[in-house]
Amino acid sequence: MSRLLSIRNLTVDYFGDGGAVRAVDGVDLDLAAGETLALVGESGSGKSTVALAPLGLLPPTARIAGSIRLAGAELLGLPEPALRPVRGGRIGMVFQEPITSLNPVLTIGEQLREVLAAHGLSRGRAARAVELLAEVGIADPAARAGQYPHELSGGMRQRAMIAMALAAGPELLIADEPTTALDVTVQAQILDLFRTLRDRRGMALLLVTHDFGVVAELADRVAVMREGRVVETGPTRQVLDGPQHGYTSELLAATLSVDDVPRWVRGEPTLQAKPTESPLPSREGGRGRG
Ligand SMILES: Nc1ncnc2c1ncn2[C@@H]1O[C@H](COP(=O)(O)OP(=O)(O)OP(=O)(O)O)[C@@H](O)[C@H]1O
Ligand SMILES: [Mg+2]
Repeated sequence: MSRLLSIRNLTVDYFGDGGAVRAVDGVDLDLAAGETLALVGESGSGKSTVALAPLGLLPPTARIAGSIRLAGAELLGLPEPALRPVRGGRIGMVFQEPITSLNPVLTIGEQLREVLAAHGLSRGRAARAVELLAEVGIADPAARAGQYPHELSGGMRQRAMIAMALAAGPELLIADEPTTALDVTVQAQILDLFRTLRDRRGMALLLVTHDFGVVAELADRVAVMREGRVVETGPTRQVLDGPQHGYTSELLAATLSVDDVPRWVRGEPTLQAKPTESPLPSREGGRGRG
């Protein structure tokens, strides 16, 4: 597999009143075409900073060093006009809260048509917008295209965001906690959608999550971050079954709730959930009545 995204010695400092905060400290990551890499780690470990850096979306207070190559071409330091076809074009993005990324005063269809226009599709945008909504599993897509974000459910809004991320046919989709704001049943549906789209389109996926259930279901490889560094990386099964770093074990232990177990273990008997009820006390040996 060819190397699609290659991050080398990425270091990001945020500057503020109190001085600089090193959010990312010498991170190396590789993602092959069509591959799914999950980025996990506790809050503040630098996951979102790594996810935003290839898109050139870090705030002006961030100072970035290192290298981020997309199919061999350096992205860091590219001027804004050169970055535009990459952002939302070759790299699509999906964030946690669709409501904050959608424009409340434009219909879903208008927003999709804008994205298509921005990426050079000059004709047939209305039809293409409806097709994209259908592709992400929105029923009655022509009618939905005429609705505003507040008229859709949270899950549907996230589907609409995903449709926008896909509009330009990206090679890589970066998703930062894409299901965290959704309720559990909708989370499962959106994960299924990611899997379907990825397999159908052959896209690579960089997925930020704190949910090891999501990791087990979707990721080929995992990178574990702590305090701005990648402390462990490897194939998903290897990292989940035999973590090499104590921090990974701690993280697994802390996040593995009983609810996650049936999805997570996929039939591995050693990790089955413990029964929640203790067996009824034996009546043998009790005193008889008669
Ligand atoms: N815009 C910013 N300005 C200043 N500091 C920031 C900014 N964004 C993030 N940081 C700091 O950088 C570090 C890494 O943050 P980041 O958001 O990348 O972590 P994260 O792993 O995505 O966390 P979470 O799981 O909470 O989303 C943290 O110390 C955070 O406080
Ligand atoms: Mg984050």
